Amino acid sequence: MSAFDLAGKLAVVTGGASGIGVGISELLAEAGATVVIADIDAARAADQADALKGAGHKAASVAVNLADEASVVAACAEIVAEHGTPWVLVNNAGLQHRELLLEGSVAHWERNNAVNARGPFLMIREIGKAMVAAGRGGRIVNVASSGLIGQMVHGLSAYLASKGALAALTQASAMELAEHGITVNTVLPGGVGTPGAIGAEGPPPVGPGNRRPPLGMCEPRDIGSAVLYFATPMARYATNQTICVDGGFSIT
Ligand SMILES: NC(=O)c1ccc[n+]([C@@H]2O[C@H](COP(=O)([O-])OP(=O)(O)OC[C@H]3O[C@@H](n4cnc5c(N)ncnc54)[C@H](O)[C@@H]3O)[C@@H](O)[C@H]2O)c1
Repeated sequence: MSAFDLAGKLAVVTGGASGIGVGISELLAEAGATVVIADIDAARAADQADALKGAGHKAASVAVNLADEASVVAACAEIVAEHGTPWVLVNNAGLQHRELLLEGSVAHWERNNAVNARGPFLMIREIGKAMVAAGRGGRIVNVASSGLIGQMVHGLSAYLASKGALAALTQASAMELAEHGITVNTVLPGGVGTPGAIGAEGPPPVGPGNRRPPLGMCEPRDIGSAVLYFATPMARYATNQTICVDGGFSIT
């Protein structure tokens, strides 16, 4: 199973301090990667890195605010200087707040898009430059949302627009990075009972996205399994692809 082995490889997981990012970090670490948790919550990122190390894995953390270009540039430089060139970047961090369309504000739109779309663009730009310079190829995985294929509730216009931008960024990045052996793919999580999902601000989440999936609710590690596939050396021929992990929601 060496094609699934990430030993000696570096992984960066944005938003790895909470929820789905924890599941992704665990699976990448269990596959042998050294995992850098990149999160705006520096204390929880350090705690999660300690938890991985306590379980016998290799991990570190770095503080980053994805909404701030200078912060992203500095964090990526710190990662490369201290840990080397990442093999995989997982753009997982995101805001999930809701606002009804007809009451929508530019501030809410900008906040969602700064973290969910512009942040990943900046991360891909900075980590992508390091990957290309190192000349060893790499993997980029963007975490969007199953809402893009219709598992909707009210209040998600800014959120889904940002996730649509992220999915489109997958395609554009896959095109420009293919010649460097870097793949770029998307994972669409279904509903996961994370702090971010449960604590999302806004109107009640009314809509068909509230139905129970045939397989029940996803756990963070279920999403991590799809990310892990795209992160492996074995997935070298898969780029600009999407895996939706939603417990079978799409068949209801
Ligand atoms: N939970 C779900 O049901 C669900 C469904 C579909 C998609 N998603 C997506 O999965 C991803 C993870 O969501 P989650 O539910 O685990 O959320 P979460 O809120 O539990 O975790 C998100 C993490 O991102 C970090 N973060 C937030 N803003 C940041 C910023 N500006 N810079 C750096 N880090 C920042 C947070 O500190 C947190 O650790 C998000 O992109 C979300 O949109 C979640």
